[in-house]
Amino acid sequence: MREIIENPVVEEILTRQTIRTFTPEQITEKELNTLIACAIKAPSGRNSQPCNVRFVQNAEMLKEMNIDFKNKIGWDTPAYTRWDTDPFYHDSPTFAVIFAENKSYMDAGLMTENICVAAKAIGLGTCIVASVAPLFEGETGAKWKEKLNVPEQWEFLIGICIGYPAEKPEYKPRDESKFIVIK
Ligand SMILES: Cc1cc2nc3c(=O)[nH]c(=O)nc-3n(C[C@H](O)[C@H](O)[C@H](O)COP(=O)(O)O)c2cc1C
Repeated sequence: MREIIENPVVEEILTRQTIRTFTPEQITEKELNTLIACAIKAPSGRNSQPCNVRFVQNAEMLKEMNIDFKNKIGWDTPAYTRWDTDPFYHDSPTFAVIFAENKSYMDAGLMTENICVAAKAIGLGTCIVASVAPLFEGETGAKWKEKLNVPEQWEFLIGICIGYPAEKPEYKPRDESKFIVIK
C-alpha cells in the first residue's frame, strides 16, 4: 500500500462502498438537499451541465417501476434484479435517476460519484444501478419518462439507490497493478 495523506475527504472516498441493504426510513430533506447540492457542483464538459436528475421517493412508484422492469426482462433473472428478495432499487427509499442527451456518460459518472461520496460522508449508503436501463427503453421507457417528466429524447444514463445502510459488507478488492507511475 502506498503511503498517503490522511484527510477527511480522502477518508470518505476510500471507505465508500456499495450498499444493497437499506433501512426503510426515508432520508431527511436536508440530507437530500445536500446530495443535490453536491450533484449540481459536479464538473461537466465546457460546463454544459447535461444531466437531469429525478429523485424518486414515492414507494408505490418504485414498486410499479420494479414490476414493469421484471415484466420486461423476465422474473427469473440473476442476482441484483430478483423481484422477491432484491428489486433493482434494492428496497432503497430514494432512487435517483440521471438522464441526459448526447451520450453524456462521463458527466453522469462524475455526478454519480459526487452523490455517492457525499452520501457516504453524511452517513448514507448508495448503490449505483445500470441494470435497470431496459425500463427506460421502448414502451415502458415512454411510460416512465412521462411519469418522471422527462422528454423522450433524454437517455437513461444511470440510477443510484440511496438510503440508510443496513449492512456493512467487506470491501471489494482492487487491482493496484493497473496504476503505474512513469518518471
Ligand atoms: C457503472 C456501474 C453500474 C453498476 N450497476 C449495478 C447494478 O445494476 N446493480 C448493482 O447491484 N450494482 C451495480 N453496480 C455496483 C458495482 O457492482 C460495485 O460498485 C462494484 O462491485 C464495486 O464494489 P464497491 O462499490 O463496493 O467498491 C454498478 C456500479 C457501476 C460503477
